[in-house]
Amino acid sequence: MQPTFKRHRRLRTSAAMRALVKETYLHKEDLIYPLFVAEGENRKTEVSSMPGVFQFSLDRLAEELDEIVELGIQSIILFGLPAEKDEMGTGAYHNHGIIQEATRFVKELHPQLLVIADTCLCEYTSHGHCGVVDESERIVNDESLNLLAKTAVSQAEAGADIIAPSNMMDGFVAVIRKALDDAGYTDIPIMSYAVKYASGYYGPFREAADGAPKFGDRKTYQMDYSNRLEALREAQSDVEEGADFLIVKPALSYLDIIRDVRNAHDLPIVAYNVSGEYAMVKAAAINGWVDEKSVVMETMTSMKRAGADLILTYHAKDVAKWLEEK
Ligand code: PBG
Ligand code: ZN
Repeated sequence: MQPTFKRHRRLRTSAAMRALVKETYLHKEDLIYPLFVAEGENRKTEVSSMPGVFQFSLDRLAEELDEIVELGIQSIILFGLPAEKDEMGTGAYHNHGIIQEATRFVKELHPQLLVIADTCLCEYTSHGHCGVVDESERIVNDESLNLLAKTAVSQAEAGADIIAPSNMMDGFVAVIRKALDDAGYTDIPIMSYAVKYASGYYGPFREAADGAPKFGDRKTYQMDYSNRLEALREAQSDVEEGADFLIVKPALSYLDIIRDVRNAHDLPIVAYNVSGEYAMVKAAAINGWVDEKSVVMETMTSMKRAGADLILTYHAKDVAKWLEEK
């Protein structure tokens, strides 16, 4: 007689049986696709460390937008490359700044496509930091908040559907919420980069968005990757300040944090599958070392299984195509 044991393989005997017990699903509606929009003309420049990702001037953007909509992706997040930068990042909150113009352009062409505006200063400041810098090269929290609030309001005025502040100053959700409300934008949600770690995985993005800090690093405002409880405090304060969505970033090395935030809060959770995570998979796939589709779909599913509702990813167009194929 055999000893008694469980037969788990019973539920894996055929594709139909596996489909019957499948726990986690990916949907096109879960995907947010990042776009890099640049001032200037006739520009479609591939980011060297992110094959398949381009910087677009507005006159070259329509085709890309059509493709995105055609694929069934319903949300994009915009990052801007201004022609000029200055100490105070004025391009971020200028009424005719690149994000403001791009937002108008997208909403004109595809009114139903949700435009998420990344609210930060680093792409617009000459020093490349996400806030205001003083004489001793410190990033000054409270002075930065006014500029971020101005940026958010100008993005809302341009037609952004969601404001996504990524700067990691303290109090940014409270200040931006109040500024939006005072300007009459009570219905515009805030998708807060609530839990954002200082990460080596942002490397390719700094080329894509030309936003590397000119001195120092971001460790006085972004989080230490050794910390877990701190993530819960960051998420908690953003919830109290009025955030409508919580982003955890990066995603792949932080699936435990996604789960922690999911368990602690009932808001929609967004996993930001960042540039370095994309670059690693792309590089291996191009070399034929991994199968791109299977690795990407497994990665996306892991983020949802960890508790994310939405995934912000450079793979979004490919994922949308692969979801059709099945
Ligand atoms: C800047 C910002 C960064 C990313 C999104 N917004 C870079 C940084 O903080 O240095 C990273 C995105 C990515 O790597 O895909 N506020
Ligand atoms: Zn920034």
